[in-house]
Amino acid sequence: MSKQLNLDVRETIEKLRKEVEHHRFQYYVLDSPEISDADFDVIFHQLEKLEKDHPEYFSADSPTQKVGAAPSTEFLQVKHRVPLLSLANAMSEDDLDKWEERLGRGLELDESQLKQLKYVCELKIDGLSIALTYKDGKFVEGATRGNGEVGEDVTHNLKTISALPKELKAQANTYSGGVLNVPDMLEVRGEVYMPVSSFTELNEALIDEDEPAFANPRNAASGSLRQKDPRKTAKRKLSLFVYTAFVTDKEMVDPPNHFSELELLKLLGFPTEQNSKVAVGIDEVKAFCRDIDSRRHSFDYQTDGVVVKLDQRSLWNALGATSHSPRWAIAFKYPPEEAETLLEGIHFDVGRTGAVTPVAILSPVKLAGTTVKRASLHNADQIRRLDVRVGDTVLVRKAGEIIPEVLSVKLDKRKADSVPFEYPTTCPVCGHALEREGDEVAFRCPNTYGCPTQTKRRIEHFASRDAMDIEGVGEVLVDLLVDQNLIKDVADLYRLDAEKLKLLKWKDKKSGDAGKEKQGVKWIENVLSALEDSKTRPFANFIHALGIRHIGSSGAELLADRFNSVDQLQSATAEDILSIDGMGKAIAQSVVEFFESDLSKKLISDLRSLGVQMQVSDSEISARNAIEKTLTGKTFVLTGTLAMDRAQAEKMIKDRGGKASGSVSKKTDFVVAGASAGSKLAKAQELGITVLDEAQFKEMMGV
Ligand code: IVH
Repeated sequence: MSKQLNLDVRETIEKLRKEVEHHRFQYYVLDSPEISDADFDVIFHQLEKLEKDHPEYFSADSPTQKVGAAPSTEFLQVKHRVPLLSLANAMSEDDLDKWEERLGRGLELDESQLKQLKYVCELKIDGLSIALTYKDGKFVEGATRGNGEVGEDVTHNLKTISALPKELKAQANTYSGGVLNVPDMLEVRGEVYMPVSSFTELNEALIDEDEPAFANPRNAASGSLRQKDPRKTAKRKLSLFVYTAFVTDKEMVDPPNHFSELELLKLLGFPTEQNSKVAVGIDEVKAFCRDIDSRRHSFDYQTDGVVVKLDQRSLWNALGATSHSPRWAIAFKYPPEEAETLLEGIHFDVGRTGAVTPVAILSPVKLAGTTVKRASLHNADQIRRLDVRVGDTVLVRKAGEIIPEVLSVKLDKRKADSVPFEYPTTCPVCGHALEREGDEVAFRCPNTYGCPTQTKRRIEHFASRDAMDIEGVGEVLVDLLVDQNLIKDVADLYRLDAEKLKLLKWKDKKSGDAGKEKQGVKWIENVLSALEDSKTRPFANFIHALGIRHIGSSGAELLADRFNSVDQLQSATAEDILSIDGMGKAIAQSVVEFFESDLSKKLISDLRSLGVQMQVSDSEISARNAIEKTLTGKTFVLTGTLAMDRAQAEKMIKDRGGKASGSVSKKTDFVVAGASAGSKLAKAQELGITVLDEAQFKEMMGV
């Protein structure tokens, strides 16, 4: 080979290494992948192949020799007792056959022994791997994979996951592996995931709060588990499946078979995925993979393949592992589900806050178990990058198998007369010029109160469940009421009466009958009474209903905790809001701007005169007051691992008039130290601050 060519190879290898490092960082640390998993695999395999063909360029620093990405520096680091390896992939049934051959060679088995090998087939849950440590039956530490050797300490966040046992079940049960004791030390490995239903709910809420949505449940799970504030993780409804354990116990040894280990984990109280099965011979494995493929879209967790492991644990040791993955297991991956279809048009959705998002209108096509007619085009930059044009044949993929997106354009099928897509400069609904704020990717229609769609979505939000919870007032009714000029904005909802509702013309689905029932007297009564009921919702719901940018239901709760009435909130300064734990600059700014605007002032005064309650109710106040303010002026710092929920402990302090702070200083009155408390406890001792253990703290709280 010529010198020139070798130089090219070396440069290509270096370029690919950088690319792989970059994409791993985006994926593992920032939870913000720029390319699809399949595209990443292409680059990774290209690099692997070049390195294999050119061993002269071997480097122990190459990303092919490492797993995942460097841990984020925001969390304490945990060195794993046993490295968390990755898995080799089988992209087809042929690859499973090749693996079987390798097993045969490695274990020196003849044909008939090979056909008798037992495999455990488990679903490959698409979440993030974690290592959980239990000492004397108690959960003490949990860490992410990180780079495989060192991960991030996410113990507190993991404690908020209800599926995670905080204490192991002590049972005198016997199981096929022997007698079950609670082991002295147990490390369990598994996958934290976000159920598909929670993912959908979360994204709806994020969009509602004008925050960017997650691309798929895996990113959502990772982003949620790696929150600095465990209270945020707690709201994210994560779940967990475990699939392996390392046991250290005087009387107990690891079970001889992997399947009995899953059974052991279940008996100890861990959630294990219930479709796991023992298959005899690789053909049964293939049948399992096919069966799951036909059913996997009906599960409430996302699976992108099947993990196949040899059942007999002694064979694991016999085969060993490469630096990257064990030889006794393989991940059978389902191909990404993609389909080609015609792009019939590009539609623009206008949201409650005026964000204008492009949506591809497609010729209906079957994809991952559903018929897809619309797909995301994300934003103007994406349209430009893809150079997507109406009339093009496009490749559509379900990103994370949930939200379909346009992946690329089939240029070879492009018609000669196609014209580049011109991104609109005006709002497709009201015609107002669109704007782009700062470095935001989204274009917005700034005509907040004049754009009919924004008005409709604002009213719909006001009436929604987490806001004023007006039963029966949803998208369809709001659209009809606005279109027929029966209401113009939120306050008009409370000006509706039976006369007006009788005027409502229902759209007919076919011949004019749909909705007829709803026009009945009973329906009108129901709507009016739901409206009346909604006037006395808790103050936090009212704040949420106002639709202030960046204020979702949790932000509204924080504001209602601090301010007792809309009048107090209206006169709050940005500093007042910033002083609330969990409120940032952008949020404070947005709240102040909202209450300063004339239109908001009018809305509030209209709602007030229509009888809507906009303050903390007497019953809420008496519930708050019922707790004696015994801790007024006292500052607490919680540190170490507490058995009780940390957010709950902080609430107890606040309810009693105290303050929970994150750092120990001379101003700290009490430090509550849980297990393995470190530097904060040391500092408290140095400063002579009173240190309480959990039991003393509970006593102080009277619980
Ligand atoms: S076993 C050394 N089993 O897939 C064997 N992994 O691509 C380690 N995963 O890092 C993994 N479901 O995060 C195993 N049932 C399962 C799994 C599973 C999901 C993840 C895990 C692993 C990755 C490898």
